[in-house]
Amino acid sequence: MTIRVVLGVTGGIAAYKACELLRRFTESGHDVTVVPTASALQFVGAPTWSALSGKPVATDVWTDVHAVPHVHIGQQADVVVVAPATADLLARAAHGLADDLLTNTLLTARCPVVFAPAMHTEMWEHRATQANVATLRARGALVIEPAVGRLTGADTGKGRLPEPAEIYELVRGLLDRGPDATQDLAGRKVVVSAGGTREYLDPVRFLGNRSSGLQGYALARAAASRGAHVTLVSANVTLPDPAGVSVVHVETTEQLREAVVTATATADAVVMAAAPADFRPTAVSQAKIKKADDGSAPAIELTQNPDILAEISHDRTREDAVIVGFAAETGDATGSVLDLGRAKLARKGCDLLVVNDVSGGAVFGSADNEAVVLAADGAAVEVPRGSKTALAHVIWDEVARRFAG
Ligand code: CTP
Repeated sequence: MTIRVVLGVTGGIAAYKACELLRRFTESGHDVTVVPTASALQFVGAPTWSALSGKPVATDVWTDVHAVPHVHIGQQADVVVVAPATADLLARAAHGLADDLLTNTLLTARCPVVFAPAMHTEMWEHRATQANVATLRARGALVIEPAVGRLTGADTGKGRLPEPAEIYELVRGLLDRGPDATQDLAGRKVVVSAGGTREYLDPVRFLGNRSSGLQGYALARAAASRGAHVTLVSANVTLPDPAGVSVVHVETTEQLREAVVTATATADAVVMAAAPADFRPTAVSQAKIKKADDGSAPAIELTQNPDILAEISHDRTREDAVIVGFAAETGDATGSVLDLGRAKLARKGCDLLVVNDVSGGAVFGSADNEAVVLAADGAAVEVPRGSKTALAHVIWDEVARRFAG
């Protein structure tokens, strides 16, 4: 089915990045109407938008008046995405102004609306902008947190437009949930850990594991598309930072622990999808370990790492927070995959445990997953083989149900 996308573009330097976003939509077969503001055309001209979308573009309500575009474009849209959204556009949208085609479109649209703000840090942090963002979110719009990084000049800070590919992923995730999808995690702070930790033997060697981070990143994206404020603690993952997600990059289990414990203090939910190494070398050599002339190999003494999931579950700073763990099991002589999962749920003290059967290593690096979500109250939800995104939404459904009551 062709999705009708309205791409609003406003007057910020990041307007050029919207060209790539437009391409992603059109190459995926979507029908895109670009509605730039007059100041957006100072950055990227109308011929570019027209050529890339295959449609005429207008900024005001006086072009093709017979077709009533100021009403029809919004009414017919399946999603409206404003990227980049300037402070000025957020203010006009929050106050319901209708002084150009884009603001008229925002007033007539009944579909999901996504704003991807981009501006200097001071403008983003200004109480006027924050109040406008809060108003738009309260009305059900998805306002993506800007990324931290290089801004227009030599300065860096929060206010950068997230990568177009990641904005596209977020919008696609929203559309996949259907027209009735709500921002049911709006106002919630969630923490997701992803990837596998590295424990160094010396400056160049480490003990690691096969975790790709795909499931954790899918969880972070899914939560962001449902309106949550997401902190992603990412251990050695090569994937791009998801749009609207605050990412903390770590390497070792101790660094992961520090970041997760800090973020957990104010979190409504924590999902530990990372694979922290259970052991680390007791001593880390400051110099590269050399081969011995006699052909002998060094013995590596290991020390057990802290169990982060057990720590945050047993030592709760917020009693009402929902804590979710993952268990990769193969089953053994002592029990089946599910028996071992139930025992682990009780041992760790978390509220939900997502149990994967990893016999044969099928899950690692794969786009798909299949799992059973076990709950501390004895409930179990079977999730058939499907995308990691689909599993992520089932996990957030379970978390949201617990928030609700
Ligand atoms: N986990 C953690 N800290 C660790 C190890 C694991 O927080 N040091 C978390 C993982 O993120 C995951 C869950 O614990 O959510 C289960 O990890 P797993 O390795 O399966 O559990 P272990 O306690 O290591 O149990 P096992 O004896 O089966 O290895």
